[in-house]
Amino acid sequence: MDFRPSADQELIRKTVREFADREIRPLAKAIDRDHRYPAESIPKMAGLGLLGMNYPQELGGAGTDMVTYCIAMEEVSRACASHGVIMTVNNSLAAWPIYTFGNAAQKEKFLRPMLQGTKLGCFGLTEPQAGSDVVSMRSTAVKKGGKWVLNGQKLFITLGGPADTYVVFAQSDPKAAHRGQTAFILDKGMKGFEIGRPEDKLGICAAPSVPLFFHDVEVPDENRLGKEGEGFKIAMQTLDGGRLGIASQAVGIAQAAFDEALAYAKSRTQFGHPIGHHQAVQFALSDMWVQLEASRVLLYRAAQMKDRVERFTKEAAMAKLYASEAAMALSTKAVQIHGGNGYIKDYVVERLMRDAKITEIYEGTSEIQRLVIAREELER
Ligand code: CAA
Repeated sequence: MDFRPSADQELIRKTVREFADREIRPLAKAIDRDHRYPAESIPKMAGLGLLGMNYPQELGGAGTDMVTYCIAMEEVSRACASHGVIMTVNNSLAAWPIYTFGNAAQKEKFLRPMLQGTKLGCFGLTEPQAGSDVVSMRSTAVKKGGKWVLNGQKLFITLGGPADTYVVFAQSDPKAAHRGQTAFILDKGMKGFEIGRPEDKLGICAAPSVPLFFHDVEVPDENRLGKEGEGFKIAMQTLDGGRLGIASQAVGIAQAAFDEALAYAKSRTQFGHPIGHHQAVQFALSDMWVQLEASRVLLYRAAQMKDRVERFTKEAAMAKLYASEAAMALSTKAVQIHGGNGYIKDYVVERLMRDAKITEIYEGTSEIQRLVIAREELER
């Protein structure tokens, strides 16, 4: 069993790293400080194929496998985690369900521009009363003739605002609980579809997260994604892949934290030596490196399973759980190694620590990942 990337995958890593160092890293500090969506760099990412990576070229995608996508996500997130989440929301959460459950017309109309990056997509699942508990969704979809009328609210929808296309979920048969949820594709600008103000967040400040409001939004039946009542399973399967995107983002953040800590350990002198000569710092760096490498093994194994079209629900949850907690641990240790300097905004590590936290929360909290892992072992 070999979890090492191939020569081709390493070449793509190098290309994406050089691109990210040139086009993304120089923006990261200012867009975080100003909470500004990086409109200037997203078309450049699209030009490199980063917004539709693991999809067929005939549909406008870059035609890579999932492992390559995870590697590219790592490199983008290593430079800036906000760019990382923009990339994964479009690739994994918006494009994938349309690619997998959409019909030919929906793929042509909505998916192709998303993969080419001329339009962006996002994913509207969470609601004020339905976070971890997706079944409690209160948004409703009522069928009237050839249309659906949507009412309700979504919360924390990452990339809402800049996105043009919204994959959203609503309860179309309240008596049927999770089997009564249906997915729809909404266009920005539909009458009654309101996009709220971005939240003021701790991290990933350049990737807006907004509430969405549906006031009698009339959605043609041709915008229904998949069958009526299939929405919950579409959401769950989408999140299996999405969790690999977030695990990759976490690995990228953790790698950046390690890079910063290592450089600082070599350059900062205390007690007559670079601090990397002191065992306390050496032990911390060793633990960081082990956690980083273990995260990659779990991530690439799960991505290979997705490429082989095997069920990878548990492996995705394990990769996301471990990598996100590792990103939090590594970034916290990186701040500690920097001492007082780590606590001020002139140094990158404080941003890494703020950005790492969300990876333990979105696309299923660490607690939900543990629940998924246990259920896959105990029940399925
Ligand atoms: N693949 C296929 N089917 C699945 C599945 C999966 N991964 N997970 C569950 N199902 C199926 C089950 O087999 C079951 O099928 P039947 O109807 O045939 O029985 C059905 O779905 C119901 O499953 P559960 O009984 O497990 O459902 P549950 O209510 O107990 O919930 C849960 C399960 C794992 C807790 C789920 O609700 C969950 O994942 N919650 C977390 C939500 C989440 O991750 N939200 C993220 C929002 S998006 C986001 O964060 C994006 C961003 O900002 C960037």
